[in-house]
Amino acid sequence: MLLPAALAWAVTASGYAGAAACRPCHAATFAAQSASAHAGALARSKPPQPGQWAFGAGSQAITFVSRLDAENYLEHGESWYRSARSLALTPGHRNAAGVRYRLFDPSAAILRCFACHSTGPLSFDAGEEIVPNELGVRCEACHGPAAAHVRDPARVRPANPGRLSADALNALCGACHRMPAATGDATDLHNPWNARHQPLLLAASACFRKSGGRLSCLTCHSPHAALETNLAAYDAACRRCHAAPRHARSVGRQACAACHMPAVHPQPNLAFANHRIAVYAPSDPLSPIAARR
Ligand code: HEC
Ligand code: HEC
Ligand code: HEC
Ligand code: HEC
Ligand code: HEC
Ligand code: HEC
Ligand code: HEC
Repeated sequence: MLLPAALAWAVTASGYAGAAACRPCHAATFAAQSASAHAGALARSKPPQPGQWAFGAGSQAITFVSRLDAENYLEHGESWYRSARSLALTPGHRNAAGVRYRLFDPSAAILRCFACHSTGPLSFDAGEEIVPNELGVRCEACHGPAAAHVRDPARVRPANPGRLSADALNALCGACHRMPAATGDATDLHNPWNARHQPLLLAASACFRKSGGRLSCLTCHSPHAALETNLAAYDAACRRCHAAPRHARSVGRQACAACHMPAVHPQPNLAFANHRIAVYAPSDPLSPIAARR
């Protein structure tokens, strides 16, 4: 089975405690993380939602998945989009009929959906139905199995990715965020679908390449909190390294990210900030133009 590298421990090790076990001692982190899109990345469909499984917390979209029979799952052809507040075609689908996945297809496509949207090892019940260990991206997706820590916190510590290098963090987050594109070459930075691969694009920016490992996902994002959607709140992170950027013309009061990390729309209902930080013309959020020196 093809699992993202950083999730490999999931199939080889047990010892997961579940997020609820962390709550008594890490109450504030638990509360914040429980309200994040990570925690809601996978849920059971709740009527009137269709299907059995709801993928996506709904910050942008929710895609529904059903089990058809012992060997097949269906990714529904219509997803719910927040920007439209209604159903429309699922990314990559041509009609509303949906796409059928064989459970043990060599590409393991349906298993991979569950692996990236849940925490810990996948298993199967007596009827060969997929059973995630824990729904959503919870504590042990990033900290590793922590049951031993729960039993004896003074002696056993789980992994703390805060100590990782910027490259290693790209790999940890990228185990899921570098989702292969549905079509085309994953290294084609001009393919708008690759705008959702933040680690790939960040690593291609001059800010990352020339800052000696000082720029990581954690420079701008809290790993436990919901996404900050006020773009101006990211200015402080830019100013850590660009205290007085030189602009030929006044740039007004817009946020740095509005111009240097412009929104890319691979389809009308989805938007991703271009993590390849650079200078862009307003007409093309994907092709950097050379900065004036
Ligand atoms: C019985 C209390 C308790 C429980 C339950 C608990 N922890 Fe901890 N945890 C601690 C203590 C105490 C520390 C050390 C705090 C310190 O040194 O400041 C700690 C530290 C940590 C650290 C930092 C490790 C480091 O080396 O920096 C992480 C990460 C962590 N816990 C994750 C978890 C996760 C995930 C869970 C649930 C699966 C969990 N903890 C459950 C008490 C607990
Ligand atoms: C186990 C897979 C996995 C790992 C590991 C992971 N993520 Fe995510 N992340 C997701 C999924 C799935 C979503 C989509 C949640 C949704 O909207 O349904 C997401 C969403 C996000 C969001 C957007 C949240 C929002 O409110 O829209 C941010 C920011 C993010 N992740 C940052 C990170 C960072 C930083 C790391 C590494 C420290 C990381 N992620 C590690 C799977 C993962
Ligand atoms: C390699 C890991 C990975 C796999 C495999 C994966 N996802 Fe995701 N998924 C993510 C991440 C990471 C995000 C967050 C994307 C973002 O906002 O940047 C996400 C976001 C989503 C969203 C929210 C809308 C959006 O496009 O951001 C939906 C819905 C979703 N995934 C459904 C699925 C379904 C259905 C499958 C299987 C067909 C699947 N995912 C397979 C990692 C994965
Ligand atoms: C998306 C990955 C991810 C998830 C999910 C996650 N953490 Fe963390 N956690 C991190 C990272 C990265 C750090 C290091 C933060 C830093 O140094 O800035 C961290 C740090 C910590 C620490 C050390 C103290 C601190 O805040 O710096 C504790 C304790 C902790 N996490 C507990 C938890 C618990 C409990 C959960 C679930 C409720 C959880 N984490 C979910 C990535 C994650
Ligand atoms: C950790 C430090 C760091 C952070 C944080 C950072 N940058 Fe940079 N940035 C750099 C370095 C280093 C360069 C390369 C300068 C050079 O080539 O001389 C750079 C280059 C740039 C360039 C020129 C790009 C090009 O293609 O030549 C722009 C524009 C830029 N940064 C904007 C931003 C914005 C906007 C933010 C916040 C969203 C940001 N940076 C955050 C370090 C950083
Ligand atoms: C220099 C600051 C910066 C860094 C570093 C950064 N991000 Fe972001 N990120 C942003 C901004 C700005 C947004 C857009 C927020 C919005 O539109 O509400 C964003 C949005 C996101 C989203 C939501 C979907 C999207 O693309 O708009 C995800 C997921 C995400 N970042 C993941 C990551 C991951 C994973 C890393 C590390 C590889 C990372 N980010 C590094 C600034 C940053
Ligand atoms: C209205 C769009 C806009 C906004 C807002 C903006 N910039 Fe720029 N930036 C540009 C353009 C265009 C250039 C190319 C040079 C020029 O024409 O001035 C540039 C160039 C740069 C450069 C490369 C020039 C150099 O100094 O080497 C950096 C770094 C930079 N901006 C950082 C920032 C930061 C940090 C912020 C937020 C405080 C910001 N920019 C806000 C449009 C913008």
